Order: sequence, then structure tokens, then C-alpha cells
Amino acid sequence: MLVLGIETSCDETAAAVVDDRRRVLADCVLSQTALHGPYGGVVPEIAARAHLEHLDPLITQALAEAKIGFSDLDAVAATGGPGLIGGVIVGVMTGKAIALARGLPFLGINHLEGHALSVRLSDDVAFPYLLLLVSGGHCQLLIVEGVGRYVRLGTTIDDAAGEAFDKTAKLLGLGYPGGPAIERAAAAGDPARFDFPRPLKGRPGCDFSFAGLKTAVRHVVEDLAPGDQPVPPQAAADVAASFQAAVADSLIDRTRNAARAFRRRCPAGEALVVAGGVAANSLLRARLQQLADEAGLRFTAPPLRLCSDNGAMIAWAGIERLKLGLVDGMDFSPRPRWPLDNAAAPALARG
Ligand code: KG4
Ligand code: ZN
Repeated sequence: MLVLGIETSCDETAAAVVDDRRRVLADCVLSQTALHGPYGGVVPEIAARAHLEHLDPLITQALAEAKIGFSDLDAVAATGGPGLIGGVIVGVMTGKAIALARGLPFLGINHLEGHALSVRLSDDVAFPYLLLLVSGGHCQLLIVEGVGRYVRLGTTIDDAAGEAFDKTAKLLGLGYPGGPAIERAAAAGDPARFDFPRPLKGRPGCDFSFAGLKTAVRHVVEDLAPGDQPVPPQAAADVAASFQAAVADSLIDRTRNAARAFRRRCPAGEALVVAGGVAANSLLRARLQQLADEAGLRFTAPPLRLCSDNGAMIAWAGIERLKLGLVDGMDFSPRPRWPLDNAAAPALARG
């Protein structure tokens, strides 16, 4: 079974071909980082236009790398949301057009489900597992009980973790995307120099918050470099290291609570999984490994290429759904918002 996966929900245009024996035959990702860099964040209109321009040639490239033609495909899967709607429309319409022209099943994939199931493409991980999903747009703790079966234990009440990295990097003048820049700068910094707040640490529940931390960083940066002066390099490294430590502490505290909830609900569950772009962070990975050891869980993280946005995870989610006969029709509508767990209350409502 060969599936084409299309991803266009944020600032990566991606197309991949994956088979049901977990082989990735092609995995093409075109990052728009250079286009959005000058703005310090993703500009939706620029993203949508770039997807429109680059998606067709990228699909042609993916098929060529996989050494197949459209007639060898068994289905087409495209991210159907949540995400920047202009980009999502480009991916869904392209996917539908190929499916219609070739008489293939079409699958509109929830981007979060793509991240959630990606670990089953790279590793032998059985349901149920506990997932920390940390990216530029999302920060959630989920129990993955099966395909299409998710229990959301917590979500962010303000910013996503990746967004906090990006905004802090912008304040420090470290460039975009912020996560890798903060991690690089932090390597030469003192994580104990600034005692930043650890949002929600010690509180019950599994929700996240990063707005207060961001404000604390802004105040420190304003003190270090009044006006528009650049932050001195050593001070910037110390802020980066102290900020990274605060985010990691906060994520670990929330995940510890989630591990307890997971144990209660799924005593047979074995794995703690991390996904999303922030999963590239080595401090976070090391701390999650430690937490998993304490909680008696096996820690698994997909390879970095599968953690950030890509088409292979969309193709794989398509394969998992196709095996269960969960295909979509041509009436599938792109969705800017699409929670994985419809029963989950918004974070604020739960307090
Ligand atoms: O999953 P992803 O590629 O796109 C979204 O769906 O958002 O995640 C991108 C996010 C960005 O906010 C980026 O700054 C962050 O992941 N990120 C990192 C690291 N590498 C990427 N954050 C912390 N440490 C990193 N090494
Ligand atoms: Zn993502």
C-alpha cells in the first residue's frame, strides 16, 4: 500500500511517499524559514502563496525520488487542519484533485494526528501511549488510545512552547526560528543566572502557560539592553539558558502529572512519546528520559526529521486510517481549528 502525504498547514511545504511496511520512499520538505525570517514569525498570506507555488513541483519530486508514478499510488492524504487556512486549502485542493483524477481514496488528516502517530512509523509503539506534543502552534498532553481516539489531558492556556522559544529569540535578536537559536546560545550560558518563573509548576492538572515567563524575559532584556541596544552576547546566552531551563522545568512538571493520570487510566500503557518541533531540544529530551525512568515508562522520540512538520507523518496517518477504512469524501472541508479530542474542555474553562 503506497500513500502520498501532503503537508501545507504552516511554513513547511512537504510531500512524501510511504508504504504500509513503514518504508519512507520519499520525504521532501521545503522550508519557508527564509521568507518569514525578516518578520520574526510566519506571515499567513506569504505562506499560502509559497505553498501554491511550490507544492506541485515538490509532489513531482517526491514521486521521482520514490521511483513511482501517480498510477502506483493507493491513496492521497493531505493535512486538512488545524492550521493557517490558506495553506491548508492549497494542500487539500491539490490532494483532492490528484485523488479525483486518478480515482483514488482521499484522506483529510488532522495535523495533530500526524504528529501523534508519527512515532508508530519509526518505532514499535503499541496503543495506548502518553504523548507530549510540543510545536510552534501546539502544546498538549494526550493519551493516544488508538487511531482517532485521543484523550486530551492538558493544553496551553496562552502560548505554545515553540512560540515562547521564537518570541524569546526575537527579544534577544537571535533570529527565526527561535528554538534552535536559543538552544545554541544556551550552550554557552548559565542556566542559574536568572530565576525565571516556572509557570503552573506544582499546581494540579496538565495545562501549560508561557505568557508570564515571556513577560519576565522581556523585563530582564529591557534591563540588560535599554532602548534598542543589542543584548551583550554573554548576557544573551545566560538569558537563553535560564529561559530554556524554565521551559523544561515547566514541561516536565506538567508531564509528570500526566504520567500519573496515564497510569491510572491505562495501567498497561508502556510508553511516553514526544513529538513536534520542540522535541528537537536536547535538554527537554534528557529530562523526559529521566522522567520516564522514574515513572516506569519507556521514552520514545521519533527521529528529528519526523518531529518537525513533514509529509511522511501525514502519509503514515493516512495509512493507519486507510487500514481501518476511514476515508473521506470530496466534500471534506479544510478546517482552521480541529481539536483531536472533541470532548476536551478549553484549558481556561477547567481552571
Ligand atoms: O512542529 P514544528 O516544525 O511546526 C509546527 O507545527 O509548529 O515546530 C516548530 C517549532 C518552532 O517554534 C521552533 O522554534 C521549535 O519548534 N523548535 C525548537 C527547537 N527546534 C525547533 N524549540 C526548542 N529547541 C529546539 N532545538
Ligand atoms: Zn506541526
